[in-house]
Amino acid sequence: MPKRRLYAGRDFRRARNIEELRLVARRWLPHFVFEYIDSGSEDEVTLRGNRDAFDSWSFVPQTLRDASSRDASVQWFGRRAALPLIIAPTGYNGMQRRGADVALACAAAQADIPFTLSTVSNQTLEEVVSASGARTWLQLYMLRERAVTQALVDRAHHAGCEALVLTVDAVHFGNREWDRRCYRQDMRLDWRNKLNVASHPRWVWDVLVPNGVPRFANIAPYLPRGVGRVMNNAQYIARQMEMQLDWNAVQWLRDVWPGKLIVKGIVSASDCLSAQRIGVDGIVVSNHGGRQLDGTLASLHALPEIVHACADKLTIFVDSGFRRGTDIVKALCLGAHGVMIGRPTLYGVAAGGAEGAAHALSILSAEIDRTLAQLGCTSLGQLSRRHIVSVHELHDKRACLELSHG
Ligand code: FNR
Repeated sequence: MPKRRLYAGRDFRRARNIEELRLVARRWLPHFVFEYIDSGSEDEVTLRGNRDAFDSWSFVPQTLRDASSRDASVQWFGRRAALPLIIAPTGYNGMQRRGADVALACAAAQADIPFTLSTVSNQTLEEVVSASGARTWLQLYMLRERAVTQALVDRAHHAGCEALVLTVDAVHFGNREWDRRCYRQDMRLDWRNKLNVASHPRWVWDVLVPNGVPRFANIAPYLPRGVGRVMNNAQYIARQMEMQLDWNAVQWLRDVWPGKLIVKGIVSASDCLSAQRIGVDGIVVSNHGGRQLDGTLASLHALPEIVHACADKLTIFVDSGFRRGTDIVKALCLGAHGVMIGRPTLYGVAAGGAEGAAHALSILSAEIDRTLAQLGCTSLGQLSRRHIVSVHELHDKRACLELSHG
């Protein structure tokens, strides 16, 4: 009997699911770049917990319903998106492929979903908006110099961004040991990783040969001279984070930004209520894909309480660990209004540029559609708590039954 194996070749079109796309990306990328995308912080407890959380919820399909035609579109902030997905902000995308920020935005535009550009992108906000025409949201790290944040806010307004996404869970940088293991003390690659880069000539040709290591193009105008290069200057950006970030800063942003304001990186209902009192429009329930505080609860586990507290007052997005259409549908059944995806489209863009990212979205789209059909639903609006049951609820039910029988 041949051994069961996932596809791990070079052709992203042959990837049947996100895990296979991940393996294609791993083949394309030097080890240190793959580690940067794929790893979590410390012992990766949260990284694993994000995935395990989906297994603790099971579907309860409703049978004999006509679900022959289906629609997975959704409305946020009065605008339609074709899928309940948003591409999450990820920094240094230019390390995956040349022009990866624009490539991801083009894939989002093609799929008719929003794209979120990171503060620490390698292409400018203006370039991304004009080259892709995507419905663009700008992710903000609040930097020490308020004037720089103000300048980014003004640029987002002029570029026509619909929303600002303020990330609040990365003020103190996560301890990503697996990522750091690739470097020597001075943030230069160790010799093993240098050799490994040399064994990826296609990546070198695509990413490094044209202009060297990609620059922090979006914030380059505000950086001191000589601090534009990504690899040895990521630490500089980390030092520029506003360490005193508090709700007053969110209030300030609310006052200066006329568009939609979304706070990303919340896992508690009380934080969610604080956001709502300030007039925030939406939140992203997120643990940063397991890259920040290790041991933080899984986003899916945080979701029900937050939905209970705030779903009628705020738009609730969720991210961290979503790899399947079934994962996305579970979150929608629990009351999320939409799902941000980080690594799945990153694997896609690494594996095949804009087409690869589009492939990731088409895999997820097909999976969402199939899940809807098998649950007996024709639209996302029909999904509800009836379609899902948790392991704990099953235990409780069983215990009740045992009690009643005897
Ligand atoms: C991120 N994330 C992130 N978030 C943010 O607000 N600004 C950023 O610049 C980045 N950069 C970044 C880089 C990489 C390589 C990853 C994987 C993630 C977090 C991201 O927006 C999102 O919260 C997670 O990626 C969601 O988890 P999954 O979908 O990757 O499991």
